[in-house]
Amino acid sequence: MHKDKGQGLCILIRILIWDIPDFFVAIGEKGRQTQEMDGVILGQVQQAIYSSTKAAVKGPRIKKFSIYRWNPATPEVKPHLQHFEVDLTCCGQMVLDALMKIKNECDGSLTFRRSCREGICGSCGMNINGRNQLACLSFIDQNLKKPTIIYPLPHMYVIKDLVVDMNHFFKQYAYIEPWLMRKEDEQTYCGIQYLQSQRDAKKMENLYECILCACCSTSCPSYWWNGTKFLGPAALLHAYRWIIDSRDEYSEHRLRRINDSYSVFRCHTIMNCTVACPKHLNPGKAIAEIKKLLVGLSKKEEADMPPAKLRKE
Ligand code: SF4
Ligand code: SF4
Ligand code: FES
Repeated sequence: MHKDKGQGLCILIRILIWDIPDFFVAIGEKGRQTQEMDGVILGQVQQAIYSSTKAAVKGPRIKKFSIYRWNPATPEVKPHLQHFEVDLTCCGQMVLDALMKIKNECDGSLTFRRSCREGICGSCGMNINGRNQLACLSFIDQNLKKPTIIYPLPHMYVIKDLVVDMNHFFKQYAYIEPWLMRKEDEQTYCGIQYLQSQRDAKKMENLYECILCACCSTSCPSYWWNGTKFLGPAALLHAYRWIIDSRDEYSEHRLRRINDSYSVFRCHTIMNCTVACPKHLNPGKAIAEIKKLLVGLSKKEEADMPPAKLRKE
């Protein structure tokens, strides 16, 4: 190939693989920070509105909730939205509170997942007013003229009402082998802890906080269309967390397992995932970093210190 053409091609590949993702990652980061700030401010504003309205209004404050219903036991009844009215003066301020109130007082058959009610377990992911969110972290919109519309997470098989089948999602998570792998001591992991420097540990910040709620993957258009082969942002965020862990010795094996044209490269850096994440993580950036490792544009750094073993007594 002519030398100039070769150089041109290299520059083009670099722009396509490296610079464009970085550009979008920067946008995603900016969006994420803005969203984070917006989230905090919005939360404070909503809390203030909630407290002041609660204090000021004496009578009932009726809010309509339109909730997706489908029951496999009655297949003749088509999926539909069922409307419920909730008096906000005697309801908590989160969407999950309203769902609990509806289940306890109006219709015990309403089905949804929840456990911790504080954004830790990741089980209450659903689509609220068009956005994938955690019901326990979403404030009820205090505008009584507008109903709150709740659907299950999009493009997932519905088991009942707001409960979706998460089997495939968790199989993909299992595929990335989310555990520490070392060449020595393969049989003797139990009871051993491995140290790493603070700098190395910092590299995993904003990755290990993921609660596997699936809000990101189910808001990703690529995942909607290629969900059987594309691993999706949640699994890939975890894959990156293990790849860059200074104590893990199987990074190359991990990269080999996802180095095909679907598992990672079906991500087109649209960043819906980053916008959706209720924990303000940036899966889009993690995927861009994996792409760089896969095409040889970056390398995993050496560990700052050998991971000295700590043995439990
Ligand atoms: S950045 Fe990638 S993973 Fe995230 S929404 Fe876009 S295509 Fe999906
Ligand atoms: S990255 Fe965020 S949205 Fe995606 S599964 Fe983890 S916590 Fe949920
Ligand atoms: S109930 Fe646990 S994250 Fe919402």
